[in-house]
Amino acid sequence: MKPFRIAVFASGSGSNFQAIVDAVRERRLDVSVELLVCDRPAAPVVERAAKEKIPAFVFRPKDYPSREDYEREIVRLLKEKEIDLIVLAGYMRLITDVLIAPYYGRIINIHPSLLPAFPGVNGIGQALAYGVKVTGVTVHFVDGGMDTGPIIAQRAVEVYDGDTEETLSSRIHLVEHELYPQVIGWIRQGRVLLDGRKVTVRKE
Ligand code: GRF
Repeated sequence: MKPFRIAVFASGSGSNFQAIVDAVRERRLDVSVELLVCDRPAAPVVERAAKEKIPAFVFRPKDYPSREDYEREIVRLLKEKEIDLIVLAGYMRLITDVLIAPYYGRIINIHPSLLPAFPGVNGIGQALAYGVKVTGVTVHFVDGGMDTGPIIAQRAVEVYDGDTEETLSSRIHLVEHELYPQVIGWIRQGRVLLDGRKVTVRKE
């Protein structure tokens, strides 16, 4: 099989970036991580990429006249590197049609709640404040909205009495680190079919 080339977009700690890179190294995931895209030069994920010798495009949004301008530069890079799949992993910026139009169906995101509940920032804090007993993790295709695209996979995580954002986050992260590489593997194997809002994952 020809290598399947992915780009990971992240803005923060990058624990999901690391989980993907580890899965590749341990041969649980047959893809090649070709690029990190990061909008925060001081983010720990930049260090992680350097350590793993993964090329990074690190930019400051305010150096560009508009969102579209830096996205055009990103699209140029993605094309040059023949990227097959864009993986958003804690990328804290809304993306526009400049990126979505050429890559629709080939951009995925992970969100720390059971969508459509608690979209947007701090899905974990929102779930705690609401008092739900079960929250979780969603992996979905990206469309123009805020966490609104077709859902590929979800996993539930129970909320315990006395949970804080920290304790709940750490259990949610464990689930994310297992689920995201798994879903990327399904896509790599051509098992994920997108039809309108419905996504089917074919059995192996
Ligand atoms: C994750 O909880 C993910 O669901 C959300 O942003 C967080 C990123 O965490 N989109 P990390 O940077 O991968 O540690």
